[in-house]
Amino acid sequence: MKRPQAQVAVLQAADAQEDRRIDDVAADADLKPEAATRAAFELEADGLVSVAEETLEHYELTDEGDQYVRESLPEQDLYEAAIDAGAADGPVQMGQAIGASGLEGGAVDIALSNYARKAYGEIDSGEITANPDADPGSDPEMLALEAVADGRVEDADADALDQLERRGLLNVREETVRSVQLTDDGVTALMEGVEAAETVDQLTPELLTSGEWEDVAFTEYNVEADAEDVSHGKEHILRQTANRVKDTLVGMGFSEMEGPHADAQFWINDCLFMPQDHPARTHWDQFALEEPEEIGELPEDLVERVRSAHKEGVGPDGEGYHSPWTEDIARGMDLRGHTTSLSMRYLSGHQVGELDPPERYFSVEKVYRNDTLDPTHLLEFFQIEGWVMAEDLSVRDLMGTFTEFYEQFGITDLEFKPHYNPYTEPSFELFGTHPETGEVVEVGNSGIFRDEVLTPLGVDCDVMAWGLSLERLLMLMYGFEDIRDVHGTLCDLELLRETEVMR
Ligand code: PHE
Repeated sequence: MKRPQAQVAVLQAADAQEDRRIDDVAADADLKPEAATRAAFELEADGLVSVAEETLEHYELTDEGDQYVRESLPEQDLYEAAIDAGAADGPVQMGQAIGASGLEGGAVDIALSNYARKAYGEIDSGEITANPDADPGSDPEMLALEAVADGRVEDADADALDQLERRGLLNVREETVRSVQLTDDGVTALMEGVEAAETVDQLTPELLTSGEWEDVAFTEYNVEADAEDVSHGKEHILRQTANRVKDTLVGMGFSEMEGPHADAQFWINDCLFMPQDHPARTHWDQFALEEPEEIGELPEDLVERVRSAHKEGVGPDGEGYHSPWTEDIARGMDLRGHTTSLSMRYLSGHQVGELDPPERYFSVEKVYRNDTLDPTHLLEFFQIEGWVMAEDLSVRDLMGTFTEFYEQFGITDLEFKPHYNPYTEPSFELFGTHPETGEVVEVGNSGIFRDEVLTPLGVDCDVMAWGLSLERLLMLMYGFEDIRDVHGTLCDLELLRETEVMR
């Protein structure tokens, strides 16, 4: 049998009885590891060798971990100082214990949080106690640090290792090690005789400059052979999905809106008929900025019409809120909590001039909210904003648009629930079912703008509008359960690398 030179070398270096590491095989065969790996995969595709893969973990202390293992953990220092100060018998002033421990700067916080976590004692209103039963001398994390430093990771407690990694005292590096072994067919082939085919499997600069490339025979590609995994940079799936959403909406006839992330409350709240004492306007929800002067001019005539809508209402039967309204508050500058601020700018005619129905606009942009982080909430997320301006719109148009939009992402089980927004009537929340947990997840909010919003803007036909969450769409598409796996500092790189992209 004739095989390319590299394959022959790997066959000859491989063993029938035991797995040999590809690096060793490569050294024996006088090949680069990548060339040996490629040859091994090609031989495996023809059943002549088997390739096994194993992931090895290498533990390395960070500089901070290294310092602690040579000295001591900050919480151990604190415990010792607290004991000396008599904290085993009752609470003592924290300042006294910290002073005696010699801890300074960031080390104090590190000591305190780990002290409490390890139940070395209690910390309460400026006082500290020391638990006499605690045994910092055999602290599992210190023992694990020592084990790693001495190259005895196998002696370390697994939970302690995890904890050290979380504390940034330890890095874990993963290495994929491949090994090959001859199969029965491989042994037979070798016994029958394998010769190096006189083909060239790599085009080299020498072949090119000498002109020899014109006369040699090239090895054929085996496109079915496995190949080494290379994890290269790629577009984040959130960005990919954002772009796909944009393409989809453009395909449905929408144009894109743009506008500021930090904007006047006027555009974020007041145009939306949100009373100035509305709870959603407080700092709990929206981030307020310190320099409202940066806003510049607000359109005077529009300010007046919005003020009047809030105070007196719109139309003969209109009721305003009868609550105070001041331009000062409207001029407050916030990070937008929704991109409906953009819809207001566009609908008002101030962004792209007067609009002629029918019109459709969208944006896929970041919004900011002072939420509590949890698996489905981040402080910032992407909102898919959109609106359609036309005569005689109804809830059926709204539902139809969502059905058509979400279908393109494989989501066909939308549910709608009546809802309340100060600026739309009727209003609906949208839900989808999470493919993994089966839970019903809110994916967006929508409605038809009230006259109190549209009349001041000078719009005299219907406008239906929505704000959908891009991250929640992603959760339904890919089955992510924790949004923090996808972005932020805790994101799961493996998951991001391996998620198959749907097109
Ligand atoms: N602004 C709403 C939100 O952030 C979404 C929405 C936009 C609802 C337009 C109705 C109309 O939840």
